[in-house]
Amino acid sequence: MKLPLTLLPLLATPLVAKPLDIFDAGAVALSAVEQWFAPHDDLVDPVRTHLLVADGDEDAPVPELTISQGFSAHHNDLAGICNLRARGGGADDTDNFVNTMKRCGKNSLIIMNSPVYNIRRPIKIRLENSVLSLSGRLKFSDDIEYWVKNAFDLGFQNQKLAMIVSGSNFVLNGEDSGGIDGSGQAWYDYARGVGNVHGRPMSLALIGARNAVVTNWSIWQPQFWAHIAVDSDNVVYESCYVNATSTSGTFEEKSWLQNTDGIDTYRSNDVVISNFVYQGGDDCIAFKPNSTNIAVHNVTCVGGTGIAFGSIAQYDGVKDVIENVVLRDIKLYASDQCRGYQGVYFKSWIGEEVGHPPNGGGGGYGYCRNVSVKDVYMEDIDRPIALTAGLTYLDEEHGKHKYGTFEWSHINITRVRATSTANRAVWLDCSPDQPCHDIRFKDVVVTPGKTDHPEIHQVCNYVMHSDDDGLEGCKPNNSTLESDTGGTM
Ligand SMILES: *[C@@H]1O[C@H](CO)[C@@H](O)[C@H](O)[C@H]1NC(C)=O
Ligand SMILES: *[C@@H]1O[C@H](CO)[C@@H](O)[C@H](O)[C@H]1NC(C)=O
Ligand SMILES: *[C@@H]1O[C@H](CO)[C@@H](O)[C@H](O)[C@H]1NC(C)=O
Ligand SMILES: *[C@@H]1O[C@H](CO)[C@@H](O)[C@H](O)[C@H]1NC(C)=O
Ligand SMILES: *[C@@H]1O[C@H](CO)[C@@H](O)[C@H](O)[C@H]1NC(C)=O
Ligand SMILES: *[C@@H]1O[C@H](CO)[C@@H](O)[C@H](O)[C@H]1NC(C)=O
Ligand SMILES: *[C@@H]1O[C@H](CO)[C@@H](O)[C@H](O)[C@H]1NC(C)=O
Ligand SMILES: *[C@@H]1O[C@H](CO)[C@@H](O)[C@H](O)[C@H]1NC(C)=O
Repeated sequence: MKLPLTLLPLLATPLVAKPLDIFDAGAVALSAVEQWFAPHDDLVDPVRTHLLVADGDEDAPVPELTISQGFSAHHNDLAGICNLRARGGGADDTDNFVNTMKRCGKNSLIIMNSPVYNIRRPIKIRLENSVLSLSGRLKFSDDIEYWVKNAFDLGFQNQKLAMIVSGSNFVLNGEDSGGIDGSGQAWYDYARGVGNVHGRPMSLALIGARNAVVTNWSIWQPQFWAHIAVDSDNVVYESCYVNATSTSGTFEEKSWLQNTDGIDTYRSNDVVISNFVYQGGDDCIAFKPNSTNIAVHNVTCVGGTGIAFGSIAQYDGVKDVIENVVLRDIKLYASDQCRGYQGVYFKSWIGEEVGHPPNGGGGGYGYCRNVSVKDVYMEDIDRPIALTAGLTYLDEEHGKHKYGTFEWSHINITRVRATSTANRAVWLDCSPDQPCHDIRFKDVVVTPGKTDHPEIHQVCNYVMHSDDDGLEGCKPNNSTLESDTGGTM
């Protein structure tokens, strides 16, 4: 892949690509990154030098936006450098930010190193061949009434977005200190105890992004899901951090940090997530419909519902796919604010449409296959490995509807060490209309936290067993002792 990203070698802190052999699915994405960040020995650094000159005159009044020009000796390209300062004093920086991106979002390095930039309205920006170096924080306002009315529509599950980045060949670099402060506390209090409250916007959406890297980028107290990649191709999330903690409420209330997902993928291909740290109350990572060729490596999830395949097949008559996914080196823990509800969780909707998304729906079809999960460590997780083919979030509908036809197959789970809080270690509740098949467990050791119901230690409903699949101890059918996914017995 040829990438004309001439500015990237100029970054002070180059991204070091990981060895390719640990990734299968992400090889394309990763090699692209490797090219972008390959050292160019012959490259002098006139851009940085120029920048220092532009910044150096201490007596001059400091403009909010400084634009200078740089020159890459390597490619003879003209490149802009834009240095945007915050207005300070609590003033709104949204217009300056959006206008800066309009002027500088092409062939440029945009530097934002004030501590805080106040964002009061939804942002949509486009970057081409550019690097956003943000060592400060974009602090989103928490005027709930305003955001519910004005956030962008995602067009999936009726969800909303606070910030959209599109374009190609770009890097969002949080420089280890920057990123987004979602001011999520107001949202957590607003939505306490209720899932998918309408209008909560996701913090950062890549939409239609090609060859994009999000690195060293933190999201503190996301309003809703922190990251989502939509309709994107070849995207790398490297060394990102998401932390959704609540400063109010009792433990049980904090446990309802729901919908604070870490990174979700939707209709995206070739996505790498590596060295990711998450704390929160929902999916650490989730693969939504049409997530293909995904590599996840070295991830720590603290609290919440673990790594989710789905939910999927929520839309009646729509075909959804999850395919070619590799997970390696995953650690999952409970937090002091939230249980560890699931570890690795596969979830597809009931077989008919009941209610509407986000909390209702069903009747979709499709498949998830070619998944490899290896080297997982879990501590105090309620349901370490779980699959349901009868999902609905409408409490009153649980257990009333036939399971769906979404096909789960070719899933290998290898080298797992886990402790669970309860009796259940493995719970695969597949559909009679589309039994799971080619599921292989190897060297999976889960120590239950309770042993009063050994018969449900491993439950496999409608799983077609194959020789040597590691599921010999899995009871074929009688999981009725456990009412639904909420059961932790
Ligand atoms: C399964 O996925 C891996 C990457 O994770 C890929 O290399 C391989 O080609 C896929 N296999 C099939 C049969 O598609
Ligand atoms: C993240 O930023 C820190 C500090 O600037 C730097 O040392 C580190 O190499 C960066 N990591 C990546 C992956 O860029
Ligand atoms: C998340 O933030 C809380 C509060 O600042 C902190 O106690 C906790 O250690 C953080 N979690 C991680 C995984 O860094
Ligand atoms: C795993 O990710 C964490 C968090 O970014 C990082 O500190 C650690 O060095 C990574 N480990 C490896 C082996 O890359
Ligand atoms: C997913 O891809 C399939 C084709 O494989 C397509 O028919 C379907 O509409 C896509 N689903 C979504 C949600 O875009
Ligand atoms: C799962 O393991 C089997 C047996 O070792 C192997 O043939 C298959 O390719 C593996 N599938 C994946 C997705 O890793
Ligand atoms: C459950 O499995 C047992 C054997 O393990 C069998 O006797 C019983 O008929 C099965 N029940 C159902 C509902 O399939
Ligand atoms: C499930 O099966 C086990 C072993 O066959 C049996 O001891 C237990 O009573 C059964 N439970 C139910 C609810 O049928």
